[in-house]
Amino acid sequence: MKLTIIGTGYVGLTTGTCFAEVGHHVTCVDNDPKKVALLQSGGIPIYEPGLEELIRKNVAAGRLSFTTSTVEGVAKSDVIFIAVPTPPLDDGGVDMSFIEKVAREIAGAVTSYKIIVDKSTVPVKTGEKVAETIRRYCRAGVEFDVVSNPEFLREGFAVEDLMKPDRVVVGVTSQRPVAAMRELYAPFQAPIMITDINSAELIKHASNSFLALKISYINAVSVICEASGADVQEVANGMGMDVRIGRRFLDASLGFGGSCFPKDLSAFIQIAQQLGYDFALLKDVQRINEQQMERFVKKISDTLWVLKGKQIGVLGLAFKQNTDDVRMSPAIELCQRLQREGAVLRVYDPQAMEKARAVLKDVTYVEDMNEVATGCDALVIATEWPQFKKLDLERARKGMTHPIMFDGRNLFDPREMERLGFIYKSIGRR
Ligand code: UGA
Repeated sequence: MKLTIIGTGYVGLTTGTCFAEVGHHVTCVDNDPKKVALLQSGGIPIYEPGLEELIRKNVAAGRLSFTTSTVEGVAKSDVIFIAVPTPPLDDGGVDMSFIEKVAREIAGAVTSYKIIVDKSTVPVKTGEKVAETIRRYCRAGVEFDVVSNPEFLREGFAVEDLMKPDRVVVGVTSQRPVAAMRELYAPFQAPIMITDINSAELIKHASNSFLALKISYINAVSVICEASGADVQEVANGMGMDVRIGRRFLDASLGFGGSCFPKDLSAFIQIAQQLGYDFALLKDVQRINEQQMERFVKKISDTLWVLKGKQIGVLGLAFKQNTDDVRMSPAIELCQRLQREGAVLRVYDPQAMEKARAVLKDVTYVEDMNEVATGCDALVIATEWPQFKKLDLERARKGMTHPIMFDGRNLFDPREMERLGFIYKSIGRR
């Protein structure tokens, strides 16, 4: 099938590429000429495992192309995906201006029946607004359907999540686009849920908020574990064996971040508010997340006493493993808090150092993770990169003025760290 994706951010670029990989012909549109030129020349603006190879392969096969022209994109395909950002507003709401602008652009470009699919994360009832806008701005007589098709990919695992989805959610207002949507997703061999458009939009916000809730829940449990001498990983393992609960997203941490959970939680709280419901539960999820960071910083300052002038090594700057994304990264927030207390930082991340430089100044960026601890009063693990487990701990201990480690991701075994001579403090474990 022929399809067009408008917006080549994380969602648009990975979605378009994976559609091409299963044999569809995909045109990706972006209004940033620099980005389009980079993509056309075989470059890629983000780090996402496996994506660059797939883009090159599908461009070479003639199934994937890039353009700045919405008119060209709309003309080429019958299915048009909207995958533009929906950034947060200061009041916690959602900035819908990109979606609205693209809806008008599509309206101006359509000359025959099109299926317009919203992939961006949007408040419930956005589909109705998009349809209304297109109807208002397109020439009379042109038929179209608006469909909601939320994405569930995780950064760092985007290709895997797209190629093997747990489910595909398709929200419609009529049966007309259903066959095309089924055909589009048939190669992925995943369960396809056809539902109404409002429910599809809500599934996305409700899912992200639930996952964030799961993390805040285990983080709250980690506080009880620390106070009682229990081990939060043991508790999570035991809980996770119940299939009704499941083990995933029960890893206690210094808090969740990224461009999705914090934004989507705020948005869902505001959407609920506007619909007359005070979603207090989700406000607590946010509060627990903020407290988790505060508790971690306190753990560091309680141990080191005065932070002013202390040299601290930080491993991890990305908001999670396998990505170079530092948006709303707990690791960056932690660094900034430590800096405000006067600490001097040596930092490292396998992928995110370039992007971090724009937001984190006056730190020493170290090129080798095994060099970070040298001369430090403490070492902090801030992102769950698996390679940090292979840190040369003997070398780190010898190079530090005091072998103290604060592990915000529970990567190491407390007993083993003690055996190696570290004062080791993690989350929810004695
Ligand atoms: C999240 C969802 O997992 C995706 O399903 C969704 O499609 C995406 O948002 C989106 O809306 O676009 P993402 O933000 O890429 O994906 O990353 P996650 O893997 O969900 O991690 C989010 C944060 O939670 C990270 O800071 C991570 O370190 C933290 N986390 C995750 C924990 O602290 N504990 C866990 O057990 C899991």
